[in-house]
Amino acid sequence: LTEIYTQGVLHGTRPTVTTDPNKLRLQAKNAMREDAYNYIAGGAGEGATMDANRLAFRQWKIVPRMMRPTAPRDLRISLFGELYDSPVLVAPVGAQEVYHRDKEIGTAAACAELNIPFVMSTASTSSIQEVAAANGDHPRWFQLYWPMDDDITASLLSTAKETGFKVLVVTVDTANVSWRPADLDTAYIPFMNGQGNTVGFTDPVFRRKFAERSDGATPEDSPFLAAGYWLGEAFSGNSHPWEHLEVLKKHWDGPIVLKGIQHPDDAVLALQHGVSGIIVSNHGGRQVDGAVGSLDMLPEIVEAVGDKMTVLFDSGIRTGGDIFKALALGARAVLIGRPVMYGLGIAGKAGVKHVIASLLADLDGTMGLAGIKSIADLSQATLRRTLYGG
Ligand code: FNR
Repeated sequence: LTEIYTQGVLHGTRPTVTTDPNKLRLQAKNAMREDAYNYIAGGAGEGATMDANRLAFRQWKIVPRMMRPTAPRDLRISLFGELYDSPVLVAPVGAQEVYHRDKEIGTAAACAELNIPFVMSTASTSSIQEVAAANGDHPRWFQLYWPMDDDITASLLSTAKETGFKVLVVTVDTANVSWRPADLDTAYIPFMNGQGNTVGFTDPVFRRKFAERSDGATPEDSPFLAAGYWLGEAFSGNSHPWEHLEVLKKHWDGPIVLKGIQHPDDAVLALQHGVSGIIVSNHGGRQVDGAVGSLDMLPEIVEAVGDKMTVLFDSGIRTGGDIFKALALGARAVLIGRPVMYGLGIAGKAGVKHVIASLLADLDGTMGLAGIKSIADLSQATLRRTLYGG
């Protein structure tokens, strides 16, 4: 907080990437290719779920307490036995090469410098090895778009394990492609246009099996068919049933986290099937239009399973106050998607760093002003639910 203020206001240095959360998206829009920007900014249908994500945050208000010394503040948390400097992770986002030439390597390096866990997407445009090298000995997690074929799953997970990924995030809210008008209007989705998904598509077992099925074709020849094969035909609505988690446990001995849980009953099922954690998320409003705001479901889910498994949160976080609220409602840590990608699109690795550092400084300052010394002191008692939103 002090560093950002000293550099900015005291020395008059204006940052390359705006610090204003309301201006960030617009700056990215001006800086980026139209189709790439649309892909990041867009959501499902008319954007009602994206709106709900923001409105859900607006309904909760922080109630500050006074005259409580809070220095030095403690933003550290522990997750799956590891101590982290702050309660923020970078969400898995695919196709980063399309947003900036620094791509996933830049984001992973920025995370390393800030000691923030980087979650690498299956749809990354940098290889697992490149990301591991850029991330060094910092904590990194691997996100799986879970193939229907167990041999491909096993191959990919063994590469992730060998290259030092510690936690497996399995995204479960993408049973089929979602209805995204902005992408349809610009006729652009990275993997369909031959960009993205290189991590999945470079897996040797996948390439061999895909060639066998398609007369020797490579995924680069037919990216759409390859994506369909990967997910069990992309339009089918197919998904693994709960029992299949046993397959993943066979191939991954570290923590497994399910991403995309919205219903408390699914959280209970996740617990019963022996996973270590869940991410309460609606994919940033990119899947089901007209869905409930992700934050609205967090308290019920925490109530159902919060003392028995690790509950993380994403979808709609834009400020330090938002992080404060999600943690106060019981999330152990939060993931940030679009704001980080806007930073990447505007200024590459430096932009990623600026966005994350600003969010952390904002959180730190908000905690100080609200009389909260450490993350452990955040609870629902620090919030009130209001009717006026705004
Ligand atoms: C995503 N997200 C995502 N999730 C995932 O599990 N694998 C992926 O490859 C991607 N790809 C992706 C691309 C883009 C452009 C966006 C914006 C999002 C979802 C992401 O991990 C996260 O759930 C949301 O971005 C969180 O919401 P906010 O922070 O963007 O509001």
